[in-house]
Parts: sequence; structure tokens; C-alpha cells
Amino acid sequence: MKRIFKKFVGAWCSPRPGRGDLAPTQIIVLALIFSFVFLVSCGLRDAKKPGYEIGWLWTDMMYPVSYEPYSENSVFPNKVTMQAPVEGTVHREAYLLGSAVNPLPKTKRVLEQGAHLYQNFCVMCHGETGKGDGKVAAKFLPPPDYQSERVMALSSADIFAVITAGKGAMPPHAGQVDPLERWKIVHYIQSELQGKE
Ligand code: HEC
Repeated sequence: MKRIFKKFVGAWCSPRPGRGDLAPTQIIVLALIFSFVFLVSCGLRDAKKPGYEIGWLWTDMMYPVSYEPYSENSVFPNKVTMQAPVEGTVHREAYLLGSAVNPLPKTKRVLEQGAHLYQNFCVMCHGETGKGDGKVAAKFLPPPDYQSERVMALSSADIFAVITAGKGAMPPHAGQVDPLERWKIVHYIQSELQGKE
């Protein structure tokens, strides 16, 4: 490397360095070459004008192999990479919202999770056993007993709807309890607090 370098630029170097040394001029020329390579290997901020490319060496990261979501695509008839979902596609969790029956199986685990959620979101008003005697209820409005005739008559979907939208003095819980969790609570209330099958 040093020999090649001396052959090409050594002629301008003065004073001539001793064997094996680089003259200041050589160092400057070397530095210029390196900084040139460094500069042209950087792109500009605008991704559409990538600056200069050292074409045969480092283009791999400039041109990704995969298709960009918004790029043109000759594979599809409509020439678009990002395709719309197939007609009739349903959101993975949409069935949780519109279901008339509880879509979750009543397993031990679901009941445990339902109990846990009930402890977090409902117990302060409805009480441990669902009698409507929670600590908050004493200072607020006592909710109905879950075993009262009117609440026993509610279907799973009715209870789900009450949790979602609230009712009368009961605030809506859609923001705190997601649909999956609501169905778990419904299972817990019906089998543990109402004693239904
Ligand atoms: C801030 C206190 C409070 C919290 C928290 C609360 N409730 Fe209520 N709930 C009430 C009150 C008050 C009523 C009576 C509403 C009315 O009829 O005006 C009620 C009524 C109900 C009813 C009966 C609805 C009907 O049609 O009579 C159900 C079922 C119910 N709540 C379930 C729940 C569940 C499940 C949770 C937890 C996710 C919960 N509640 C959290 C206060 C609360």
C-alpha cells in the first residue's frame, strides 16, 4: 500500500521522507482520499436522492430485497404491494363484541381470571358476594343484589352490555375492561355469585 502510494503521490512529497516514513503531504493526501470515500458513501437526507453510490461495493442496504408497502408491484393485477384484506374479513376480536352467548369456555382458569377482574373492578360497589354491599356502595348508591329476581333474569349478553355501557348510576367500564375480560367476569358472576350452571 505504501509502495503504491509513494509511486503515485511520492513525486509531490517534499522534503522526501526517510524509508518507511510518510511525509506530511502524503498524510494529507491520504486523509483527503479517505474523507472523499467517507463523504460519497453517505446519502443525503432526502431518501429519493441517495447521493453518490459506490456502486459495485455497498448498494445492498440501499435497495432492499423485500417490497416496500407503498411501492409498485408487477405481481398483482392492481400493481399495488399492500393489498386490501379479502372481502368479508372480520377483525380477530369482533366476535367478542356482538356475541349473544359467552364465547369463552367456562374453564377453571377463566373463572379464576374472572374472579381476579371482579376484585379489581366491581367488588368495591357490588361486594364480595355480589349482594351490593361493597365499601363504596355504602357511601354511594347500593347496587342491586346479583341474586335478586331482576339481575337473575339478565342474560350473559345483558351483563356484558351493562359492563360495557354502564347503567343508571353505574359507570361504563369499556375503557378499563376489554371485551375478553368482560366475558370472563360474566362467567364468574353467573357461576360463582349467581350459582347458575
Ligand atoms: C361505582 C360503583 C360500581 C362499580 C365499580 C360497578 N357497578 Fe355495577 N352497578 C352499580 C350500580 C349503582 C348499579 C345499579 C344501576 C341502576 O340500576 O341504576 C349497578 C348495576 C349492575 C348490574 C345490574 C344491571 C341491571 O340491569 O339491573 C350489573 C349486572 C352490574 N352492575 C355489573 C357490574 C360489573 C360486572 C362490574 C365490574 C366490571 C360493576 N358492575 C362495577 C355500581 C357499580
